[in-house]
Amino acid sequence: MNQPLSNSQTRDAEALLHTYANPVALRRTGVQTIERGEGIRVFDQTGRPFIEAMSGLWCAGLGFGNAELAEAARIQMDRLPYYHLFGGKSHEPAVELAERVKALAPGRMSRVIFQSSGSEANETQVKLAWYYNNARGRPEKKKIISRVRGYHGVTIVAGSMTGLPYNHRDFDLPVDRILHADTPHHWKGAEPGESEPDYAARLARSLEDLIQREGPDTVAAFIAEPVMGAGGVIIPPEGYFPAIAEVCRRHDILMIADEVICGFGRTGQWFGSQTLGYEPDTISMAKQLTGGFLPLSAVAVNGDIAETVENHASAIGTFGHGFTYGGHPVAAAVGIRALDIYEREDIPAHVRAVAPRFAAHVDRLAAHLLVGEGRRLGLLGAFELAPDRSPEGFATPGKVGPKLQDELLARGVIARALGDTLALCPPMIITDGEIDELFAPFEAALDATHAWAKTEGHLP
Ligand SMILES: Cc1ncc(COP(=O)(O)O)c(C=O)c1O
Repeated sequence: MNQPLSNSQTRDAEALLHTYANPVALRRTGVQTIERGEGIRVFDQTGRPFIEAMSGLWCAGLGFGNAELAEAARIQMDRLPYYHLFGGKSHEPAVELAERVKALAPGRMSRVIFQSSGSEANETQVKLAWYYNNARGRPEKKKIISRVRGYHGVTIVAGSMTGLPYNHRDFDLPVDRILHADTPHHWKGAEPGESEPDYAARLARSLEDLIQREGPDTVAAFIAEPVMGAGGVIIPPEGYFPAIAEVCRRHDILMIADEVICGFGRTGQWFGSQTLGYEPDTISMAKQLTGGFLPLSAVAVNGDIAETVENHASAIGTFGHGFTYGGHPVAAAVGIRALDIYEREDIPAHVRAVAPRFAAHVDRLAAHLLVGEGRRLGLLGAFELAPDRSPEGFATPGKVGPKLQDELLARGVIARALGDTLALCPPMIITDGEIDELFAPFEAALDATHAWAKTEGHLP
């Protein structure tokens, strides 16, 4: 039985259409309202603390309270609260942040374009890939390959590249020219006895086959998250990206790294593509670019793309793309301060230092009867729940994962069920001791979920 809704829950239900929620169920259960944050914790309206094991939506890498970021915003608010980058106008925070991003990013990036969200960044990526190939006299080279279970946002083209059923169904997506390659998930996709490198090589052959079927001259770009996030925290098999990159290079297909989750230290290097051993042509960044404190995203492109696009735009007369809030000065000032902190505290090194503790907990709990596979890289982790450790998963999917999420919430930890996979992405400032606190209630939550799954018939 659900409790009657509180006044604030009723007001919420009558005012908001919540994204990524079941609207009718929410009217019954009510929302959880978060009021404030501090370090790795957020507090609800009753003052109860929760460890935020997802950094909100994979973004609050510096936690939920930071006086330096607040100060950077306040100073810029007073100095110049809004300006834009259209028609030859500029401002110092955007220039400085672009210089800093270029210097940090792998792949010899030469120009940065700012937007406000990850979806806008990826939408910009596709427009650039199309523009670039028109400029090069290759108007047929337009298809974009993303992957089943990849997540790239929800606008029309970004949502089409996202390879998840909920994001397509009844939104009339995907649009044409967007193709989906295999999910690189060894546990689910490998043949019995197939090693990770052999599986990676097979995925590269499968990509080659897809490109040949479509015609290499029709394929513009391959977009991928170094580690898939919202699709279930899927870490690619050893050798995957180098093998995929070889195929893309051979067919003059741009490699777009969607670093919206993996960027700025999450995997233990500045960018996930560095951890996974490849060099992209362009990079999408967002989320941790400002520690999630303000909306800001960036696309960085290499010199060849920048030069081709700039020359083509000059011939046309203008580069007809841009967002009113792209590179917003307050967001850019916060981004600069976030980079100061990442550099001063050496956040990638901190992630590398605490990752073994995080990994030890994931590996220990992966032995639980309810867990099919435990996954982790840097401070990204997941438990994929399954009956009898079977990669096939539950007969009725999407029930057991949310139950574990609820059991953890009841014990003071906010994690996120992505179907039957429970994802973890704690603030990157987390300490060894706080990692122990985060995992402390897991055993009991898994046991309670296991018992419930048996009663409900999800387990034999
Ligand atoms: C890898 C990746 N790309 C793009 C996006 C979309 O970002 P936004 O929600 O800011 O549009 C997300 C959001 O979670 C993401 O994880």
